[in-house]
Amino acid sequence: MDSKNRIYFFDTTLRDGEQVPGCQLNTVEKIQVAKALESLGVDVIEAGFPISSPGDFNSVIEISKSVTWPVVCALTRAVEKDIDTAAEALRYAKRKRIHTGIGTSDSHIRYKFNSTREEIIERAVRAVKYAKKYVEDVEFYAEDAGRTDNEYLARVVEAVIAAGATVVNIPDTTGYCLPQEYGAKIKYLMENVSNIDKAILSTHCHNDLGMATANTMSGLLNGARQCEVTINGIGERAGNTALEEIAMILKSHHEIALESNINTQRITPLSRMVSSLMNMPVQPNKAIVGKNAFAHSSGIHQDGVLKNVQTYEIIDPHDVGIDDNSIVLTARSGHAAVKYRLECLGVKVEKEKLDRIYADFLALADKKKDVNDDDLLVLAGAERTGNHRIKLDYLQVTTGMGVKPVASLCLDIAGEKFEAAAAGNGPVDAAIKCVKKIINRNMTIKEFTIQNITRGSDDMGKVHMQVEHDSHVYYGFGANTDIITASVEAFIDCINKFVK
Ligand code: KIV
Ligand code: ZN
Repeated sequence: MDSKNRIYFFDTTLRDGEQVPGCQLNTVEKIQVAKALESLGVDVIEAGFPISSPGDFNSVIEISKSVTWPVVCALTRAVEKDIDTAAEALRYAKRKRIHTGIGTSDSHIRYKFNSTREEIIERAVRAVKYAKKYVEDVEFYAEDAGRTDNEYLARVVEAVIAAGATVVNIPDTTGYCLPQEYGAKIKYLMENVSNIDKAILSTHCHNDLGMATANTMSGLLNGARQCEVTINGIGERAGNTALEEIAMILKSHHEIALESNINTQRITPLSRMVSSLMNMPVQPNKAIVGKNAFAHSSGIHQDGVLKNVQTYEIIDPHDVGIDDNSIVLTARSGHAAVKYRLECLGVKVEKEKLDRIYADFLALADKKKDVNDDDLLVLAGAERTGNHRIKLDYLQVTTGMGVKPVASLCLDIAGEKFEAAAAGNGPVDAAIKCVKKIINRNMTIKEFTIQNITRGSDDMGKVHMQVEHDSHVYYGFGANTDIITASVEAFIDCINKFVK
């Protein structure tokens, strides 16, 4: 398939995607995602930015050991120490790439580097040559290329290719470009860089103006052959280009004749895994992976789809791994059924962890008649909070019309019990006040989202919360059939991140 029409998928969920505040994964979770990305068929996994933290350094090492086929890539600045550290972190990778680069727009050159265009080219060339000492495959990024003047950008690209870059990344770092402008930039480089046949150009588009997918497609249609993407389009601010969107555009539009190695049937399970591990809900109307992406609700559409699905459906839901047989588990389902279903969702668990999830599953199945895939993913994720120092021991709330809501609650803090009672302007307020009485710190709830998972009054509610403490914002998550308990759990999840 390595023809001139082959598009390489470079996944940066674990690097650019993971920069979302509060959505950081631990190394075990990153390995889980990396293995799922390998099964999905991505060509390159950007595993982290090793100089940025010991956690990132370790994750790159462990991901390098865990995957076989994809190239493992590590990010650096155009700084020797960064490149040394990346090379060290990549030492176990079977196929490896160093991704180095520097800002090339006039504002980056002037304000970030207090430098000149010529000096930036020298630094770029030096970094590529230095990385080449360690690895054959070196990708160069021209940060803020979207706002870099094309003529100068062409000089940078030519110089780094001459220095040995195998891939040149043209990021629209601020998500500012219009699709035709971004496409024209790629076309200009294809036509004006004399040694362009020695490397491939990559797209890397941010979604600040909602144009990431359109810009990426425009880049590919004008000659770029690698796209940098994340699962569910996650990433800082408005995120990056969504992998699933580009993969399905290429699959659906045969006339553009661009091919990839993506096994699209793995998209939905991986989307859910990333959403669940990162506690980041996918918006219901999100293309390809949103809960409503294939739900035809209007009468006219339903009628058409029943007569012939092609009337309104451009994608067969099976092609993205939506499973009609998505089984519903009940209190009578055994360990094996729960394990099997988790594996279908891309979550592999050891026996000990499965036993804990199974116990939680039985407790939930007692409260709720059927347990579906989303519930299971929440249970698999919630289990991660088992080693929290502060836990909710019990919570009792009295509320209703015409009565003042009151709560009493007990926290288990490292094995010691602390009780409190409080009244509030609602049951959640009363319960949160109890926690605040026990954990006597300055804490402000900045964001509080309650989301039900599927439907029905017996359903589990998921709560996402942001709490500010000492000028930092901490993210927490809770899930329970009782939304007051879920809210308190989310609040305690936040507190566990700063009370040591
Ligand atoms: O958006 C960007 O410019 C980046 C680079 C570091 C590749 O993420
Ligand atoms: Zn980026």
